[in-house]
Amino acid sequence: MFFFSIKPLFSVLVFTLSILIITFLSSSSLFSLYRTSSNSAVGEGDIWSVRRLFEWRPCKWWLQGHLTALPLETNGYIRVDCYGGLNQMRRDFCDGVGIARLLNATLVLPKFEVASYWNETSGFADVFDVDYFIQQMSGFVKVVKELPPEISSKEPVPVDCSKRKGHFDYVESVLPALLEHKYISFTPAMSQRRDRYPLYAKAALCEACYKAIRLTRSLEMKASELLQVIPKPFLSLHLRFEPDMVAYSQCAYPGISPASIKAIEEAPQGDRKPWTGELARIWRRRGKCPLTPNETALILQALSIPTNTNIYLAAGDGLMEIEGLTATYSNIFTKSSLLRNEDFTAMHGNTKAALDYYVSINSDSYIATYFGNMDKMVAAMRAFKGLHKTLFLSRKAFAELTFQGLREKELMQALWKVHRDDFAKGRGSALPECFCEFKL
Ligand SMILES: *[C@@H]1O[C@H](CO)[C@@H](O)[C@H](O)[C@H]1NC(C)=O
Ligand SMILES: *[C@@H]1O[C@H](CO)[C@@H](O)[C@H](O)[C@H]1NC(C)=O
Ligand SMILES: *[C@@H]1O[C@H](CO)[C@@H](O)[C@H](O)[C@H]1NC(C)=O
Repeated sequence: MFFFSIKPLFSVLVFTLSILIITFLSSSSLFSLYRTSSNSAVGEGDIWSVRRLFEWRPCKWWLQGHLTALPLETNGYIRVDCYGGLNQMRRDFCDGVGIARLLNATLVLPKFEVASYWNETSGFADVFDVDYFIQQMSGFVKVVKELPPEISSKEPVPVDCSKRKGHFDYVESVLPALLEHKYISFTPAMSQRRDRYPLYAKAALCEACYKAIRLTRSLEMKASELLQVIPKPFLSLHLRFEPDMVAYSQCAYPGISPASIKAIEEAPQGDRKPWTGELARIWRRRGKCPLTPNETALILQALSIPTNTNIYLAAGDGLMEIEGLTATYSNIFTKSSLLRNEDFTAMHGNTKAALDYYVSINSDSYIATYFGNMDKMVAAMRAFKGLHKTLFLSRKAFAELTFQGLREKELMQALWKVHRDDFAKGRGSALPECFCEFKL
């Protein structure tokens, strides 16, 4: 009796379950098929709903690595000299930390050479929290605020890394100078053999760049106030279309206003004449030309980013042709519109850059129209925090597709496909040194 009653119940259950499973499987595969192939023309689903195949995460050897004990004796003291914009200085400093560990050296605080670029005096300690940095780097590399008395009166001996062509090795070429002078300074060169680094040196670089560097308390408070007043959810958009960078790019923009053309000519790089004719076309197709705000708006629409999206403009002052974006995307917020006027005008370049950085590593999504130091830093930091709605717009694809004569719907669909694939594959969205690709 018992068996008779349970059996039908059991088969009903199995039947129901299998129906459920079949329904679930077919709908989920249909669903993902739909999502990966949908586009703006078919509607529904913006770029962020595309199923990702890969994701960048901090490498295990960094986060779970067993640290090699620091040597008892230091080989000497190193000061890293950093130049350029805030994110370029930070990148060079991170490299310098790795080198210091590689050479078993002790770091002193870096020199942030800002005067030439920003016309201000803000150094490392004005932007970043020094005590926190030293504390976080404990076990990774030695950092001191003060030099020992026997060398504290000396200036470091500069070692020029920039002239060393091709791949070079710091142990071979810089260690002898460090051992001889005991206190040296240099600006890291991009061409070093980082592949030869022992893991403990790479881990020091990663730890410094993505965990130990944080803004000073007062800057972080200002930045979080700014973050709070931006309507949520929001996209942080890093647009680059300032006169100096357009002049530097040597690209011609026939459609822009006379005022913009004048601004470009008057930029410090204005003597770099734009390429013309065939050279201009080759240059553009290689992806060398910054996207205009208008082109950016077009690509955002191709990615099905709704035109009522809240957009924070992470950008410097003096963006040109901004109407090209605001005509389509009207919910645009900037530092100058959100901060009290007296705060904003008194703010230095580094401070403004730090605010954009902070907002961008905390935004719901981040899109860059360029692939500069800020974009790389922000993308990596977002990956570190598990924020994966990050995308670099492809200048090259845009140039190539328009060169092929694609227009309107065809162009939009082609742009969607390129960026969908980039997003699905996590292409370019993190610095490979400290991040490893994880198959989803
Ligand atoms: C640095 O110290 C490690 C041991 O911690 C040693 O294996 C390595 O050879 C040293 N490197 C230099 C350049 O002194
Ligand atoms: C730098 O700032 C000083 C004082 O604020 C100003 O007189 C000078 O013109 C500025 N230099 C540049 C290149 O902007
Ligand atoms: C902006 O782009 C649209 C195409 O999306 C084009 O029709 C228009 O002329 C452009 N405007 C400017 C000012 O370049």
